[in-house]
Amino acid sequence: MNSPICLITGATEGVGKVTALELAKKGFTIVVAARNANKAAALKRQIETLSGNASCEYIVADLASFRQVRQLAETFRRRYSRLDVLINNAGIFLPKRTQTEDGFEAMLQVNYLAPFLLTNLLLAELRRSEQGRIINLSSSVYTMGKFDPTNQRLGGGAGPVEGHFSVLGTYAASKLFVLMFTEELARRLHDISITVNAVHPGIVRTRMMLQAPGVLRLVSYLSLPVSISPLEGARTSVYLATSAEVKGISGQYFAKSKRSAVKNKFDTTANRALLWNLSLNAVESHLATPVRRAS
Ligand SMILES: NC(=O)c1ccc[n+]([C@@H]2O[C@H](COP(=O)([O-])OP(=O)(O)OC[C@H]3O[C@@H](n4cnc5c(N)ncnc54)[C@H](OP(=O)(O)O)[C@@H]3O)[C@@H](O)[C@H]2O)c1
Repeated sequence: MNSPICLITGATEGVGKVTALELAKKGFTIVVAARNANKAAALKRQIETLSGNASCEYIVADLASFRQVRQLAETFRRRYSRLDVLINNAGIFLPKRTQTEDGFEAMLQVNYLAPFLLTNLLLAELRRSEQGRIINLSSSVYTMGKFDPTNQRLGGGAGPVEGHFSVLGTYAASKLFVLMFTEELARRLHDISITVNAVHPGIVRTRMMLQAPGVLRLVSYLSLPVSISPLEGARTSVYLATSAEVKGISGQYFAKSKRSAVKNKFDTTANRALLWNLSLNAVESHLATPVRRAS
């Protein structure tokens, strides 16, 4: 199979759906990781019809489960020997504290820990590509995210289990962690045979924005005049997946297909290393080959 292979999560809706379709039109073999088999099958038909590209497959996995993320990686590995582009696109914004079967707050697990695990599980396949590319969907709200080095369970904005829960704080922390992970992984990969970059897609008119919980729905509707379509929201991911300009560029944060400076006081060298180790503790039993700890 000579066409480049892209594994993308969260492609049954919004930004991911358009990203998958645009990459299919450019000749990629698309592998969609989705929790809903019916939506994935419909997407496969849609991509094949609209792109004229018959190479779209799917693997069913709920990213809120480490076990299912591991099975996703195993299924991918059985079917494909290499991976050219991994797009960790799926994301959730929940109205209240929800715990996963693994005992983590669900936004932190789906938005951050699942991409951390999936990426680490597929590094060997990415290395088999001429130049593997990892694209992680962050968000500009990362600027509001906090990292508490004393919280061993990666609380972010979630706070102690019985205490205050901030929806926005937790979502923002998950997106800050995605960014810190992107920077730390780029450092650990040393060479640029695999690159990893993070994306802010813009304020995009998707289900996540238009069905935001509580008072945030009002904020979303007030933002409509500056919002963009899913097609525009997919542009930076498609650019990072395909452009020769970003060959060898790693550990960067992109918005509107341009590098953007990262500004968050919690994003320090020490915190990135600590976050890596805490994340490793969280997923370690699901990793075949343990990844090195920060020294
Ligand atoms: N929209 C914005 O303004 C905006 C701004 C900044 C960043 N972002 C980020 O961009 C990414 C895409 O957002 P979007 O607006 O396109 O969101 P969306 O329209 O709500 O789509 C989210 C996608 O993630 C999937 N997903 C959610 N939970 C999952 C789980 N447990 N397992 C597997 N898949 C799951 C959904 O699958 P189902 O179809 O099964 O629900 C759907 O395909 C997210 O990471 C988001 O945080 C969005």
